Amino acid sequence: MSINDLLRKRVSVRAFLDKPVLEETLKKIFTQAQLSPSNCNVQPWQIHVVSGAQKDALKEKLLQTVMSGKEPNPDFNWRTNYKGVHRDRQFGSANALYSAMGIERSDKQGRMVAMLRNWSFFDAPHVLFCTMEKYLNIMGAVDMGIYAQTLTLLMTEQGISSCIQGALGQFPDPIREFLNIPEERGILFGMSFGYADEKAAVNSTRTDREPVENSVIFLG
Ligand SMILES: Cc1cc2nc3c(=O)[nH]c(=O)nc-3n(C[C@H](O)[C@H](O)[C@H](O)COP(=O)(O)O)c2cc1C
Repeated sequence: MSINDLLRKRVSVRAFLDKPVLEETLKKIFTQAQLSPSNCNVQPWQIHVVSGAQKDALKEKLLQTVMSGKEPNPDFNWRTNYKGVHRDRQFGSANALYSAMGIERSDKQGRMVAMLRNWSFFDAPHVLFCTMEKYLNIMGAVDMGIYAQTLTLLMTEQGISSCIQGALGQFPDPIREFLNIPEERGILFGMSFGYADEKAAVNSTRTDREPVENSVIFLG
């Protein structure tokens, strides 16, 4: 598949089949993802891939924390209050998701239940956590974003779907404890992945993009 085909095929998927990815396929994808570029080649990504019974146990632990009403305490600053066009696009993506799920804008409880699915990893067979040393801050986050895109495209090439989730960085404590992540390392975001349940309504969610003129200025 060409890069263009992969880019068009990749969408965020939020319902999965109960079918794990073969270990050798996982190894291949993560080995290839090591080719991602990073500032000064520091390769800050430390990735935890969790599957099977371990994933189920982590899900229970995480859901308990989320349902306890505890305030989010992310390791990195995720609290951007989007403004102007960014806010419009944020609403646009939420609308696309909730209308695909048949949830009305006014249905607060429905939206909350949909949001909670983040922390049950959308019932995916695998979840991963992207962690890096906290001191790296924005420089590390840039590298991690590039790494995540590399990973999603490699997965797409293998017919594997994914959803990058900032939500998985919101309640780091139970994850840190479960995975034995040292205090100096932070959880930036996570990703649920596996084979898409093509029949699930939520997976019909489609977002649009700005025309290139609104994002790119060509000079000369
Ligand atoms: C850094 C990042 C964090 C995201 N966090 C979440 C999340 O917590 N939950 C979720 O359902 N989708 C999340 N998404 C998916 C975006 O909503 C999605 O990429 C965007 O709406 C564009 O849709 P597409 O991926 O289908 O093209 C995240 C995406 C990125 C890149």
